[in-house]
Amino acid sequence: MTPVIMTVNGAEVSATVEPRTHLADFLREQLLLTGTHLGCEHGVCGACTILIDGEPARACIVYAATCGGRDVRTIEGLADDPIAAALRSAFTAEHALQCGYCTPGMLVSARDIVRRLPDADEDRIRLELAGNLCRCTGYNGIVRAIRRVLAQRPQDVIVAKPPLPRGQFAEVREAAPTVTRADAAPTSTPGDTLKQTLRLALPRETVWRAVCDPALIASCVPGARVTSVNGDRIAGELVASLGPIEARFAGEAIVTYDSHGGQIKAHGRDPASGTRLSADATFQVAEDGPQASTITLDIVYALRGPLAQFGRGPVVRVFAAEIADAVGRNLEARLRGEAIPEAPRLRAGSLIWRALWRWLRGLIGGR
Ligand code: FES
Ligand code: FES
Repeated sequence: MTPVIMTVNGAEVSATVEPRTHLADFLREQLLLTGTHLGCEHGVCGACTILIDGEPARACIVYAATCGGRDVRTIEGLADDPIAAALRSAFTAEHALQCGYCTPGMLVSARDIVRRLPDADEDRIRLELAGNLCRCTGYNGIVRAIRRVLAQRPQDVIVAKPPLPRGQFAEVREAAPTVTRADAAPTSTPGDTLKQTLRLALPRETVWRAVCDPALIASCVPGARVTSVNGDRIAGELVASLGPIEARFAGEAIVTYDSHGGQIKAHGRDPASGTRLSADATFQVAEDGPQASTITLDIVYALRGPLAQFGRGPVVRVFAAEIADAVGRNLEARLRGEAIPEAPRLRAGSLIWRALWRWLRGLIGGR
């Protein structure tokens, strides 16, 4: 058993938990806070969404033992919260619930949208709710309820949140990835932004020649494969094993190059799950000393559909860092004529879980 002290709904809680106990079980079974519901227990459905240090999190994929010193707030702890109160009234007025099973998690996510995105339109609300599943009401009433609260614009309750801290979770080689919301991103793809920097111990011209060869770059991305190149259009696929799910994204990218840089517009779809991925990226290859260079990528991406939860929150930051790290290692190996050490696809047993583990370590405080 592991001792842990955390704050739950404003009160300090001291307990001993089994290391394997997830936070939702701890809240429900030891603290009897049964407003936190459990659906999938895989981080997929969003029924267990709560706040940890003010940020929405899935209580079913956070170990209670890692929450020492954290401020946890459940739906019960939002009883007197003015945004939650406005949302509860709006959910009633707009018939935004039927059985109510998804409602606690839905309200926590809705409150986050109202606080963070006061100008969100219907598309953005639907995008933000992609990680909360409702199996009986349908989403129209839920979206209407959130829009109703946003339209009321209660200035005393809508508080724009500060941007996420930069480089908080992981490093890619010497440079840290950063993720910020992309409400004002100057590209056509609405979504989140990700900045990624790869540092390679190779001269810029060597790296640039590799970057101009899409098939070579794809061979360095775990799970990726180019199937055809037609002018600036590149078709390919990406296979990823995500827990019990195997996603096989097939898609197309248009790549344009300028002086040691360029742009990529890409979209893909996993037919089995219906998940869609779109991304706009700009890249630049810069000299970093005579024998080293950096590739900087600015990406705006959107993931929609059943697998969208893998594109949300801290997991995507460390996941992206892991992929970039693998691509960097593979590219260096390739250009030196060595064998690529990475597994041929993204696997839950490697990248996702390593990413989750790094994230959990970050929660413990060991980042
Ligand atoms: S129960 Fe946690 S996401 Fe489904
Ligand atoms: S209201 Fe029943 S699952 Fe959403």
